[in-house]
Amino acid sequence: MNRVENKIKLSEIENMVKEACYKPTNVFGTGIWEHHIKWVVKFGRMLSSETGADPLIVELSALLHDYASIKSFALYTNHHVHGAQEAERILGPMGYSTRVVEGVSHCILTHRGSMKLGRKTIEAQCVADADAMAHFVGVPSLLNYALEGKGYSVQESTAWVLAKLKRSWNKLSPVAMKLAKPYYAAAVRLLNDEDQVTDVILPYKETVVKRTLQMTI
Ligand SMILES: [Fe+2]
Ligand SMILES: [Fe+2]
Repeated sequence: MNRVENKIKLSEIENMVKEACYKPTNVFGTGIWEHHIKWVVKFGRMLSSETGADPLIVELSALLHDYASIKSFALYTNHHVHGAQEAERILGPMGYSTRVVEGVSHCILTHRGSMKLGRKTIEAQCVADADAMAHFVGVPSLLNYALEGKGYSVQESTAWVLAKLKRSWNKLSPVAMKLAKPYYAAAVRLLNDEDQVTDVILPYKETVVKRTLQMTI
């Protein structure tokens, strides 16, 4: 596959994932594209050039790593397994080589730190790192999820997000830590400032914030 063909195929996959994110069946909401997938791709690119990983395998994996659960929440629990199988079904017929298809499949299968599945390639580590790093720029979405999805108060939500970011930080490889440091520091600074937290949340869910603030006064 030459460069031009590659670019066309990548944008086809990007459009396919984006479309799934904007469908009403996606329970995570459209934010999963803007605040998560796009950033996993961006951080994946940074990590590829820093580590010498194959940028195509990392980019394809970043785009497809959560695709199964975006399409169907019923697949969420094992979305790493379903996602790896789905990637093979998509990429093989598109003309990608066995090396690329197998590389992507392994990255998706091992992207979740909680699953403790051994990562055998540098690309798999890049994707897992980029996935964790994306949390540092997704603070509004995470706060919103804690407030609405979990029904927490503003204070509980802030503590929950801080703990989640800390877990993500601790999972990172040394190279990713170096790249992620300013993003992590900015997120922690924001979450430790009550006024900033309110400023972040208000445009999203004004009524929820008012309700939870009243409950805690
Ligand atoms: Fe995932
Ligand atoms: Fe993810």
